[in-house]
Amino acid sequence: MLAMVLNHPGDANVFDPEDRPIPKATATKSVLKIMAFGINHAELITRAGGSPDVHLPRVIGIEAVGVIYETSANSGLQSNQKVMTLMGGFGRAFDGSYEAYALVPNDQLYPVESDLSWEALATIPESFYTAYGSLCKLHLNQGDQLLIRGGSSSVGLAALLMAKTLGLQVTVTTRDKTKVTKLRQFGADHVLIDQGELATRTQFAGVIELVGVTTLLDSMRHVKPNGYVVVTGGLGGQWVLPNFSPFSIQGYLTNFQSTHVNAGLFQAMLALVAKHHLSLPIIQQFDLAHVGAAHAALEKPHDLGKIIVIANTN
Ligand SMILES: NC(=O)c1ccc[n+]([C@@H]2O[C@H](COP(=O)([O-])OP(=O)(O)OC[C@H]3O[C@@H](n4cnc5c(N)ncnc54)[C@H](OP(=O)(O)O)[C@@H]3O)[C@@H](O)[C@H]2O)c1
Repeated sequence: MLAMVLNHPGDANVFDPEDRPIPKATATKSVLKIMAFGINHAELITRAGGSPDVHLPRVIGIEAVGVIYETSANSGLQSNQKVMTLMGGFGRAFDGSYEAYALVPNDQLYPVESDLSWEALATIPESFYTAYGSLCKLHLNQGDQLLIRGGSSSVGLAALLMAKTLGLQVTVTTRDKTKVTKLRQFGADHVLIDQGELATRTQFAGVIELVGVTTLLDSMRHVKPNGYVVVTGGLGGQWVLPNFSPFSIQGYLTNFQSTHVNAGLFQAMLALVAKHHLSLPIIQQFDLAHVGAAHAALEKPHDLGKIIVIANTN
């Protein structure tokens, strides 16, 4: 089988193709035949050497959709069953999705019933789970005002789509004026152009902060005194806030991390997605041998949605 291996950090062309044997199921792990997966911002960081906890060589890729190829006795999983997997060390502590078959702990394989294509399903796990987990941290009620800072990212767009099904009033930000019309078409009530300080007097009941600490203090200026800000992303490339004074903020500050998936939260996300037939638009798709080209495409300015890779065609 083909595995696209990251042997050392580098640019988008750094992945080395390797022909490896298909793994064998163990007492606690099943073999996932990977049909498709989405490319995530976090994988660009890992590829470039920005994830010190990922030891190379590694097959990276933090999410996948596919079918059970081989499973262990008493796993509760069936051959050919449709499943998703994400995080929990996948593509970081052990080999992930940039290969045709992967060995995955049984309790990290989430069965899914869906008529969506593999391509559409591949847009869901990490983006919608992260978006849903972030939304749940905000304690919002129908009609509340939500701000999504970094609203044109995949997680941002997933949060927008879900927030509208929950009856929220949603303002999203982008740095790119050309995305305003499309963001409105996806349901945004308001779109703000983000130049570091937002030009709005709205006091939001909740904020999903995807740009990160570079805009966090400004975001907190726009939250109600009893509102919540969840820091989920770091698109701005900065992770620590220098000279932070808790007295400079209002509202409640929290964070969300998809690192260890909560199975109940994941199932609740899947139910909402299925009820409203949600998925992200696919910007471009590549085959596994061209996963580097998929990275290059995500690094360039791009349309709204998800870049996906097809690992097996049948
Ligand atoms: N906490 C978690 O568990 C978790 C899970 C998944 C993702 N994340 C994080 O969530 C964020 C979004 O991830 P994603 O995969 O959805 O990203 P993505 O789809 O790759 O986001 C791309 C968009 O981000 C915006 N962007 C890029 N650089 C920026 C900058 N310096 N400042 C502001 N905006 C910038 C651009 O939009 P415009 O040009 O339109 O502004 C770009 O189109 C990332 O920081 C990622 O690491 C966190």
